[in-house]
Amino acid sequence: MNSVAVLHASQLVTLAGPKRPRVGSEMSNLAIIRDGGILICDGVVAAIGSSKEIARKARGSRIIDAGGRVILPGFIDAHTHLVFAGNRLDDFERRLRGETYEQIAAAGGGIWSTVQKTRAAGETDLLDQSKKHAEWFLKCGTTTVEAKSGYGLTVDDELKILRVIRQLNEQTPLEVVPTFLGAHAAPREMHVDEYVDRAIEEMLPRVVSEKLAEFCDVFCEHGYFDVEQSRKILSAAKKLGLKLRIHADQLSNSGGAKLAGELKATTADHLEKTDGQGIGAMKSANVQPVLLPGSVYALGSASYPRAREMIETGLAVVIATDFNPGSSPSPSMPMMLSLACTQMKMSPAEALTASTINAAYTLGRGDMIGSLEPGKLANFSTFDCEDYRELAYWFGFSQADSVYVRGERVWSGGLRPSAKN
Ligand code: NIG
Ligand code: FE
Repeated sequence: MNSVAVLHASQLVTLAGPKRPRVGSEMSNLAIIRDGGILICDGVVAAIGSSKEIARKARGSRIIDAGGRVILPGFIDAHTHLVFAGNRLDDFERRLRGETYEQIAAAGGGIWSTVQKTRAAGETDLLDQSKKHAEWFLKCGTTTVEAKSGYGLTVDDELKILRVIRQLNEQTPLEVVPTFLGAHAAPREMHVDEYVDRAIEEMLPRVVSEKLAEFCDVFCEHGYFDVEQSRKILSAAKKLGLKLRIHADQLSNSGGAKLAGELKATTADHLEKTDGQGIGAMKSANVQPVLLPGSVYALGSASYPRAREMIETGLAVVIATDFNPGSSPSPSMPMMLSLACTQMKMSPAEALTASTINAAYTLGRGDMIGSLEPGKLANFSTFDCEDYRELAYWFGFSQADSVYVRGERVWSGGLRPSAKN
């Protein structure tokens, strides 16, 4: 048996607790062990406790000294568009000159410009570009991401993106959970209703029969897919056994959160413009809100979602990066923690719960990841600080020292000489 013990974390943030998403005041309980240690056997957490206790149990194991750093479960990023070609530097500069996301899209930039580059890229090239993105996530302490297709918009190109996601899973230490987002935008060559039919009749059956996705998502928004079109695609996906996520109420209060409630989606994401009714609909159907402050920030908007109201209503809030080339070019969960606290008034503890255990439950993996408890995967990171609140307080650089997946160190590059191994 391969057994390793990590000792002397100033704070071992376990997030141990009920086996379900955390709500209300539970989001503030991180179950921290001071001077904590973990015993890992064959990639799985075998024991958690004080360093003294773990050292006793660890006779014969390899010992790693965490050197008084903070240890957290690996971040779980429940909303990314990780696979795309190129960047959107032109959009970026246009936005700085005052054009809006919608104006830039109408003028030939936006999602469509990334679709053109992604269609033109071969599968190997796309995989190489995506591996670079995967490495960025790992460096920031993220060990699992959800990743959406959506920059192909033809049967072949959507399947190509989903195959790249599968290869990322096989070839990198990052765990990648696939979502089919064929309805990200209608392609220029086709009327939107015709495209909806194609997504339902041709894309979804292939995605499901080739087991290329666990979830289906739709960009439900004026100018993209209206509530009726979104309902059609999502209902078809549900019938085929996919679980649902929805881009809801990002640019306008267009009924996405209510639709998520009606269809009992796993998540409704964005929610910048969602009102009290939408929040009520999510609550009655147990939909988890996934808030994406990086896209509000990068679009230069001040319209952050109503996180406090959602927590007070009892929703199991999640925070994610929305990593994509247009509206949120950041893979950094620590940056999202900073934004969640400063802009949405979440506490650092709530933000951490939202980016680990609550996120794990939206991906159907709450029993395996998201907290450090016996029986769960030993996915965790050490951070070069002594108090978990520093993760949300210092911003704009990575405090990650070492990142572990299934007990193996997959990245190391901290600020101080690294943890002894
Ligand atoms: O989540 N809203 C739709 N999709 C992305 C943006 C994608 C893009 O601009 O390329 C988002 O913000
Ligand atoms: Fe998105």
